[in-house]
Amino acid sequence: MTETEDKISQAREEIENASNIVILTGAGISAESGVPIFRGQEGLWQNYRPEELATLEAFWKDPKLIWEWYDWRRNAVKDAKPNPGHYALSELENNLQKVTLVTQNIDGLHQMAGSSGVIEMHGNLWQIRCTKCGDIEQNFDVPLRELPPKCKKCGEIGRPNVVWFGEMIEMSLIDSILKAIEECQVMLIIGTSGVVEPAASMGLVAKQANKTVIEINLDETPSAGLYDIVIREKSGEILPLLFTSNRTLS
Ligand code: OAD
Ligand code: ZN
Repeated sequence: MTETEDKISQAREEIENASNIVILTGAGISAESGVPIFRGQEGLWQNYRPEELATLEAFWKDPKLIWEWYDWRRNAVKDAKPNPGHYALSELENNLQKVTLVTQNIDGLHQMAGSSGVIEMHGNLWQIRCTKCGDIEQNFDVPLRELPPKCKKCGEIGRPNVVWFGEMIEMSLIDSILKAIEECQVMLIIGTSGVVEPAASMGLVAKQANKTVIEINLDETPSAGLYDIVIREKSGEILPLLFTSNRTLS
């Protein structure tokens, strides 16, 4: 048995013995669907780092530039389809009493694969929020007709309905994630570089509560040393191997 096979079988056993699992995903889970990741050369847009663009300050400095970036991302996501990793996670819901899926992604691919109750920590790429009246518009135009787009209700500039660096994630979302971690037996952390808070600390919270933490990520991450099982492979290849389908609910 290779080292990876051995880890896969350990992970399968942990999952098989669990009734309640929390999953945290990042850009890596959508990489095999062709959605660019953030960190790493391929993910960069016109040589900007995400930290330079994903702030309210950057938006007000140059709303058109920020919207061009989001327009590029919307274009990259528009034809993307869920991959076997997304589908394996959605099927997991049929086999366990409770699955809480938390994602940092704003691409909507988990929902497209059939996952329910997805907690979108960083918002949604297909929503525009008015900077004045707060109205939220679902908008699937690619490219957008006007950059920056204007609010249909009051005519003010709209912004992506996402969470930027320096902005608060709704407290109720954080509370429900922490509660889910407290109640789970196993946490899976998939395709995230683990450098953006508060998502980056969720695995540590789980470890402090003595949960089993399994990481699947292509590259090294800062907290991997603390986790129980670490698999350095593609999530779309590994996730379908981790779950036995049609397990009877206990
Ligand atoms: P990153 O781009 O920082 O990290 C993606 C991780 O996925 C990297 O560690 C890759 O090694 C790994 N990866 C790539 N392909 C993979 C594959 N096929 N299978 C498994 N792993 C793979 O993305 P996030 O950690 O999601 O926030 O980034 C976190 C946040 O930073 C984003 O939500 C976004 C960004 O700025 C905001 O915009 C607020
Ligand atoms: Zn408005």
